[in-house]
Amino acid sequence: MSLVVFPFKNEDPEILIRNVKIALSHPRVEEVLCVGASEDRCFVALAKARPTLEKEHGKPVKVMVQERIGVLRPGKGDGMNTALQYFLQETNHRRLHFYDADIVSFSQEWISKAEEGADQGFDVVRHYFPRASTDAMITWFITRTGFALLWPKSALPWIEQPLGGELLLTRPAAKGLLEEERVRRQSDWGIDTLYTFTMVKHGCSLYETYIGVGKLHKLYGALTDLKTMLIECFAAIQSLRREEIPQLGTHRVEYPGPVSQQVREKVGYDVEGSLPLLTEGWSQEEESLLAVLPKKVRTGMQACRSFPKFGFMDEEAWYATYAALLEHFEPSSPHWHDLLFRLWLARTLNYTVNHALRGYDHALHYLHQMVGRYVNRALGR
Ligand code: DGY
Repeated sequence: MSLVVFPFKNEDPEILIRNVKIALSHPRVEEVLCVGASEDRCFVALAKARPTLEKEHGKPVKVMVQERIGVLRPGKGDGMNTALQYFLQETNHRRLHFYDADIVSFSQEWISKAEEGADQGFDVVRHYFPRASTDAMITWFITRTGFALLWPKSALPWIEQPLGGELLLTRPAAKGLLEEERVRRQSDWGIDTLYTFTMVKHGCSLYETYIGVGKLHKLYGALTDLKTMLIECFAAIQSLRREEIPQLGTHRVEYPGPVSQQVREKVGYDVEGSLPLLTEGWSQEEESLLAVLPKKVRTGMQACRSFPKFGFMDEEAWYATYAALLEHFEPSSPHWHDLLFRLWLARTLNYTVNHALRGYDHALHYLHQMVGRYVNRALGR
């Protein structure tokens, strides 16, 4: 009935092979597909293990390199779209599951819960799980904020993990995605945004299933690790800004459970290492772009050139900044990339010291309420 797909790039082959075995052992899974970004070490190890995996489980395992389908930076988007293409053109399976290859807490439960959601009739099932209060900073300040500003009446701002790589698509939902030219173009990190946006635009019914064990992954270093992802996720939202979304489709979210101490205590990024990034390497060109930003933000960012400042980048200031970015950001300009990164960094640090510091429950409550306030504001209330 179902195909399970693991897109991967330079992952630990042991973890990936373990996850492939878990998927193959699930009674609903008929085939597993691993799509590699290139023929890296992990790809070679997997290709070697493939015949044994097939023999042991009596099910096909495909290992392939992603095709060049899109036009932006070749990345995760090409990998996911290669899998969609394979699923629709080479198989008759009814459902496709995507899982990130590096999930150390992967188990059959992830597959079963998604299958249950689809059995209830949902077109798409998305997994969500608890994340540290200082993790998911692109999700909260770029994706959910952007969805609230641009499509406040839709389900989009309320999707728990719009950038999540773990989801189930029924065949019609997958077909709807691949038929959209802009989805095929989006070869980079923007793919999750495009999938999420398009499934809501197409009126797919969505179920978000809660996975309490979460997805244990390593801590980010200084926030520069996330710069490319940040830029590509913002550019993806900006590219959709003139689109309208009809009020279609149901959206149901499974009630979450208690959050483990490990997640509650985890620090998502290196705060001290991120501070100098506010001050270092300003160019004349970057500084001149500040002109289009609200005065308070402009003054605050100018002060950053000599000392890291972020007290000014509160919820209100970020809303106004985001609106200005939607209008003025140029995806091909490295100066805009630098400035977007710095502005988001100021917002992330501001939130970290004013909210994350007060504890997990306060922080998560704040973030959800913030989205609600942005929705109201975008609706002019
Ligand atoms: C996000 O913001 O969700 C990214 O995965 C980085 O944590």
